[in-house]
Amino acid sequence: MTTRHQALIAALPKVELHLHIEGSLEPEMMFELARRNGVTLPYASVDDIRAAYRFENLQSFLDLYYAGAGVLIEERDFYDLTWAYLRRAQTDNIVHCEIFFDPQTHTGRGIPFATVYRGIRRALDQAKAELGISSKLILSFLRHLSEEDGLQTLEAARPFLAGIDGVGLDSSERGNPPAKFARLFAECKTLGLPRVAHAGEEGPADYIREALDVLDVCRIDHGVRILEDSELVARLARSRTPLTVCPYSNVRLKVCDTLEQHPLRELLAAGLCATINSDDPAYFGGYLQENWLGTTHALKLERTEIVQLAINAFEASWLDAADKAMHIAACRRIAATFPD
Ligand code: HPA
Ligand code: ZN
Repeated sequence: MTTRHQALIAALPKVELHLHIEGSLEPEMMFELARRNGVTLPYASVDDIRAAYRFENLQSFLDLYYAGAGVLIEERDFYDLTWAYLRRAQTDNIVHCEIFFDPQTHTGRGIPFATVYRGIRRALDQAKAELGISSKLILSFLRHLSEEDGLQTLEAARPFLAGIDGVGLDSSERGNPPAKFARLFAECKTLGLPRVAHAGEEGPADYIREALDVLDVCRIDHGVRILEDSELVARLARSRTPLTVCPYSNVRLKVCDTLEQHPLRELLAAGLCATINSDDPAYFGGYLQENWLGTTHALKLERTEIVQLAINAFEASWLDAADKAMHIAACRRIAATFPD
């Protein structure tokens, strides 16, 4: 993919705020971990796995995504998975990432919470020391499971909360509204954990409102259906509550028909703090920089929009104010060296 602003996009320091670490499990690693752990996969080859990645909607993806995660057993599997993502992130000039992990996908198969957490944490700490990539770790609850299951997961997480920076809500959106998790998120708030939630991906714009009003989230994951509710657009534009938008995911899960029809430009034009993210790059055909390049090409984004997207990502992050200011100044300095 070559696009007019390729050099600018490559040079800008980038942030990823919507990345499910289990969604970075490449078919090659899935095969290797299956072999290492004696797990039988329903695929004959890596090509077979890739060929199966044709999705009709969110649920058809989730079915394969949860099945694929079944090869992750030992602490070092979670470490290898996370380290591979971080190495890849460095090639995309990602300087900061805030990643989701789905503990219930693993504890539900008998893998201890500690095994999952320790493997991921070790890779994140190593990335800070060796790659200069800072990170936050977000425990994401599965909304197709009960609130009670979520509360038990929070209990399992308690010994590790010093290394967990916030909580999220993902999985099958329709029929599982944010309010289902009111008590759980209230408990997380009491513990001082910042909260985010997937909302307005497949579900209605009203789920975005509910995530804000009932769960008191500081950021909305996806949120593209907000454009169906002009009052909500005005509210989030005013508050600058960020949306972590994932263009390739939206196309692959048929939230949008084509990348050319993706609403990112409308979101920016409405004054929303929209950002670009990859969601589940091993499943959706592209990591962060590919999402940037592909979307810029398809929507013919202008230089000012690209720079705004880079700045939005730092603004939307959980970095402290001094780090945000430092990175945003770097974005502006680098952008100034690229003519229009
Ligand atoms: N939506 C909901 N749940 C998810 C997603 C998503 O895009 N990716 C991984 N789990
Ligand atoms: Zn997601």
